Amino acid sequence: MPNFGQEMQLEVYGSARSTSSEPFPFACEEWEERARKVLSDEAYWYVAGAAGGGDTMRANRDAFYEWRIRPRMLVDVTDRDVSVELFGRRFPVPVMLAPVGVQGILHPDGEAAAARAAASIGVPVVLSNVSSVTLEEVAAATGDSPHWFQLYPGSNRDVMASAIARAEAAHYSAIVVTLDTKMLGWREADLRGGYLPFLKGQGIANYLSDPAFRGLLPRTPEEDPRSAIMLFLSLFANSAMSWSDVQWIRSRTRLPLLLKGILDPDDARIAIDKGADGVIVSNHGGRQVDGAVAALDALPAVVDAVAGAVPVLMDSGVRRGADVIKAIALGARAVLVGRPYAYALATGGEEAVRHYLRCLIADIDINLALSGRRTLAELNRSALERAA
Ligand code: FNR
Repeated sequence: MPNFGQEMQLEVYGSARSTSSEPFPFACEEWEERARKVLSDEAYWYVAGAAGGGDTMRANRDAFYEWRIRPRMLVDVTDRDVSVELFGRRFPVPVMLAPVGVQGILHPDGEAAAARAAASIGVPVVLSNVSSVTLEEVAAATGDSPHWFQLYPGSNRDVMASAIARAEAAHYSAIVVTLDTKMLGWREADLRGGYLPFLKGQGIANYLSDPAFRGLLPRTPEEDPRSAIMLFLSLFANSAMSWSDVQWIRSRTRLPLLLKGILDPDDARIAIDKGADGVIVSNHGGRQVDGAVAALDALPAVVDAVAGAVPVLMDSGVRRGADVIKAIALGARAVLVGRPYAYALATGGEEAVRHYLRCLIADIDINLALSGRRTLAELNRSALERAA
């Protein structure tokens, strides 16, 4: 996407802004404000909330602020390239949609709308297995654009095996296993509202449509939805999950396997040892362990431990172009964004998600150029310094 940032600037500055309808915002804070207005309290807090007092969610942002970019001058940055290579495929941008479950509470088309938006501009999608829309429908929405499938390692192997087989059949090109959710975090906002979307039958489309899951029920979910919900709750997470389960998942698929939720360099080393093809440094956007290390702070040690053996991705707190530049300079191959696109989806569906992502890409492109770099490969720790 050469010059994407400047093209987008011209498009925005040069277009007569309509006065009849409010144009989409450019700042992620404004997306959140708008989502707050259109969502129910419970849906808004399900996205905006975090574990405990929200310390880790805040730390995720603070960590970005602690690093500053040191731009280089008088570099010809006319030809730029923000593409990135992952598992033998070149992606136009180093940004992916993080797996965010239950998007049906945000927009009637849920994950399908977000996936269409991302696919239309080449942004890869990581689909949560607790989606409101089935994985096959989301695969149809992405078409040939890359899509990965995220799996919560549950307690029933037949159901997991079935999900993996379905993902392969629907041409998902990687499996992401989220390790940090042996149970849901202690989320004060959801507790206050007494709100768990799954209890209302939200976010379980992949289970209700799954033959292995349905086979465990004496009556079909259509006849007895309550029992289906209870069965889901009993098997979607697995507090006993260990590295042997990762090895079992490894044995079930030839697709690249990424482990999401790695924060400790020793876990990163074990991940590679057990056959992971990539790790995602993440604290789930601060939704699991309150007080956990900020993802960006955990990144450099994981990158050092991995020592180039597999790609390291990261998420948690990424909002703007500068954040992406910093994460990549610290060794991430690519980043994932979560809440910002969820707020855009709630605000204006597919079109809004596309706008948010195009702005983010333009911001990355322009920040890269103004930092005196032409490609992401030119970014390394020498581009950054710690705030005094
Ligand atoms: C998530 N996240 C998440 N992760 C995952 O592996 N599977 C999932 O189903 C979900 N669901 C989910 C729902 C909501 C509402 C949020 C906000 C987050 C975590 C997500 O993938 C990612 O790690 C964080 O969102 C990244 O942090 P930011 O970008 O939200 O700060």
